[in-house]
Amino acid sequence: MSIRHTTSWKELEAHRQDIDTRTMRQLFEEDSERFHRFSLRQGDILLDYSKNRITSRTMELLTALAREAAVESYRDDMMAGRAINFTEGRAVLHTALRQPAGFSLPLSDGQDAGRDVAGVLWQMKGFCDQVLGGEWKGYSGKPITDIVNIGIGGSDLGPYMVTEALRPFAHGAVNVHFVSNIDGTHIQETLKRVEPDTTLFIVASKTFTTQETLTNAHTARRWFLQHAVDESFIARHFVAVSTNREAVEAFGIDPGNMFVFWDWVGGRYSLWSSIGLSIALYLGFDRFEELLAGAHAMDEHFCSAPLEENMPVILAMLGIWYHNFFDAPSHAVIPYDQYLHRLPAYLQQLDMESNGKRVDRDGRVVDYATGPIIWGEPGTNSQHAFFQLMHQGTGFVPADFIVPLTTQNPVGEHHDILLANCFAQTEALMRGKTEEEARRELLEQGVDDERMSMLLPHKVFPGNRPTNTMLLSELTPSTLGSLIALYEHKVFVQGVVWRINSFDQWGVELGKQLAKAILPEFASAGEVTSHDASTNSLINLYRENRRQ
Ligand code: F6P
Repeated sequence: MSIRHTTSWKELEAHRQDIDTRTMRQLFEEDSERFHRFSLRQGDILLDYSKNRITSRTMELLTALAREAAVESYRDDMMAGRAINFTEGRAVLHTALRQPAGFSLPLSDGQDAGRDVAGVLWQMKGFCDQVLGGEWKGYSGKPITDIVNIGIGGSDLGPYMVTEALRPFAHGAVNVHFVSNIDGTHIQETLKRVEPDTTLFIVASKTFTTQETLTNAHTARRWFLQHAVDESFIARHFVAVSTNREAVEAFGIDPGNMFVFWDWVGGRYSLWSSIGLSIALYLGFDRFEELLAGAHAMDEHFCSAPLEENMPVILAMLGIWYHNFFDAPSHAVIPYDQYLHRLPAYLQQLDMESNGKRVDRDGRVVDYATGPIIWGEPGTNSQHAFFQLMHQGTGFVPADFIVPLTTQNPVGEHHDILLANCFAQTEALMRGKTEEEARRELLEQGVDDERMSMLLPHKVFPGNRPTNTMLLSELTPSTLGSLIALYEHKVFVQGVVWRINSFDQWGVELGKQLAKAILPEFASAGEVTSHDASTNSLINLYRENRRQ
């Protein structure tokens, strides 16, 4: 049955009409307790969701929808290791990666997820100690100073985002660089900044078949050997993170230098696994453990809090409220913290690769919208770029504002100004500016009647535009772990309600297949005619201009 035919969905459709009759301004005026009613603290994160187009009745109905969709039972299936990723026949157990020591979860293949995770964490810790302690030496006898993580998608976005976010917590012994794009510029520009005898390459790929990653890794290997010459030195400078031992060996990396993970860890959920090796090396292993502990605290909250007080569930259901009942096609994420500048990009993969699906669990094309477009940029830069549209455009963009109360860089008035802007924007989006207020303002400025009637419509802000504010006590490894897990579970809950499989990604395959077919055509004899007229012409134009 389509989720649209459930009782709570129908009630929400009717309720939408009631909500349309009231603005958020009115709702705040009527209820002095609104902030307390619609805010929630979990660990170091306070979620203020009072600036949403909701009443207590809205939240009751949204929670009823989550219950009708069986969110709790799917959550329990995920945590128990059942194969909820049914198109790939896999369990979804990234939460097992951040369980405390001693955790045990026997799997159907006879393995124990808890024991396996503990083993790899132990291996990672030993490796970090060696590299950061200077015992792991490069081929000239010098310690490692630079880590280059070569990976893409989930094997890049998470570690890159986290190392950027936690720069103030860097161990200090090594720098970290990330190469993902197949564009040769990315690897070439990175190699210019490192020395071969003090650089360690981490080739990070779940499948170890990804074209971009393997091509970049081969280029790095060639560059390295041009300097080091002796192939036996590769063992000191290349390690692999993967589930595919054979492919790692075939590449020429010693299996002793391999850090495994498992098919029950999805790529976009893998930063907690050995894919986080670059994080552990950059921050030190203890900080990596704090990141895991922060995520675990959010897992516990997600599994134990009633749906009404469950932060990921609340965020998920608010997203559904706007996406499905107000037709908001996108959702913006605006971190008011420069260290979080890669968070929107990371969330794009997490959310859009998970919930960008059009077929439900029964294989039917859905008759409702699923995953929204996720986008964003740090505040205050975004205020000077796209906030005009958010305030006065015809579109409707719900947004998350994320801001730490304490800055890592207390310089002059910067942090006060940053927070003043953050709070002002959510206030402005909620309140807007009425015609009356705009008129008063113009009168105070001495504007004459003729100019007033011309200017007035342009000065009105409709307001009533919803935002969530997430106040972080401080951006630490633990808080960041909780924040990422919060979004992971939000995406999970939405996927359950939309009745889709959030854990496969067949949609990225077609382009990959076609690229593999096109590549040999660049060097083939004669004009290419096997595609449509546009693709043929583009290929042939490139062939004419291609450098041999
Ligand atoms: O983009 C498709 C995808 O399979 C992602 O899901 C994954 O994170 C990325 O490619 C990289 O895959 P791998 O880690 O296997 O190289």
